[in-house]
Amino acid sequence: MDMGDTKNRPVGFFDTGVGGISVLKRAMEIMPKENYIYFGDSKNAPYGTRPVEEVKTLTYDAIEFLLEKGAKAIVVACNTATSVAIESLRKKYKSIPIIGVEPALKPAVEMRHEGKIIIMATPITLVEKKFNNLVINYGKNSEIEPLPCAGLVELIESGITEGEELNHFLTEKLEKYLNSKIAAIVLGCTHYPFINRELQKVVGENVPIIDGSEGTAKELKRKLVEHNLLNEENGEGTVEIYNSLDRKEIVDFSYKLLYGKK
Ligand code: DGL
Repeated sequence: MDMGDTKNRPVGFFDTGVGGISVLKRAMEIMPKENYIYFGDSKNAPYGTRPVEEVKTLTYDAIEFLLEKGAKAIVVACNTATSVAIESLRKKYKSIPIIGVEPALKPAVEMRHEGKIIIMATPITLVEKKFNNLVINYGKNSEIEPLPCAGLVELIESGITEGEELNHFLTEKLEKYLNSKIAAIVLGCTHYPFINRELQKVVGENVPIIDGSEGTAKELKRKLVEHNLLNEENGEGTVEIYNSLDRKEIVDFSYKLLYGKK
């Protein structure tokens, strides 16, 4: 295959479900000429409460699927899968760029706001070494509050991104922080940007809510440039969304999240 063909091949995105669409959206804004394929494993979501070995196996299978479809680079658009599998994936697939995601703790710390920095993520993400290293590197002088949110991915996967049920869930989760100062909330799960509006209602308009999707999209661009893989064709690229659930509704919902307003 010559270089021209390689550049035309799609960038493969993976998440346990619809969450990684929040990252894909940013990538498309920054690199509209690229072709993208997205695989959501909604059949097996959530991963965040599963044993680590199971998460690894499911992640490897998903990456194989994307590579079979011809992906020239991979974005593991899932904090949970990144936490447990990114290092071994990079060792296994040495020749292609593999980009992961992580909670955007650094920008939250750099804001230097008074109060606690709350990191919302899945239980696995918050106990893994990757997150602890992040806290050691950036969070030493800040009040970091990891907040595992088991159950939230399920709500979003079922199509709930606003409303009373979600508001209740979030209020209950955040209750103990609502009477003290919150410096920022970091979204450490790619599903959570889709509930931004409801979350903002719960914590108040003045609390910054930070997600890492822009940083990931920029990192993808850097890697594509570095590997001489950036698509230079004219015109807009294409997007194809696949899901392990054999249901049209989940694919329709994915496109709605991608093209709908945030
Ligand atoms: N979007 C995934 C993440 O970023 C959700 C993981 C899950 O399925 O629990 O962590």
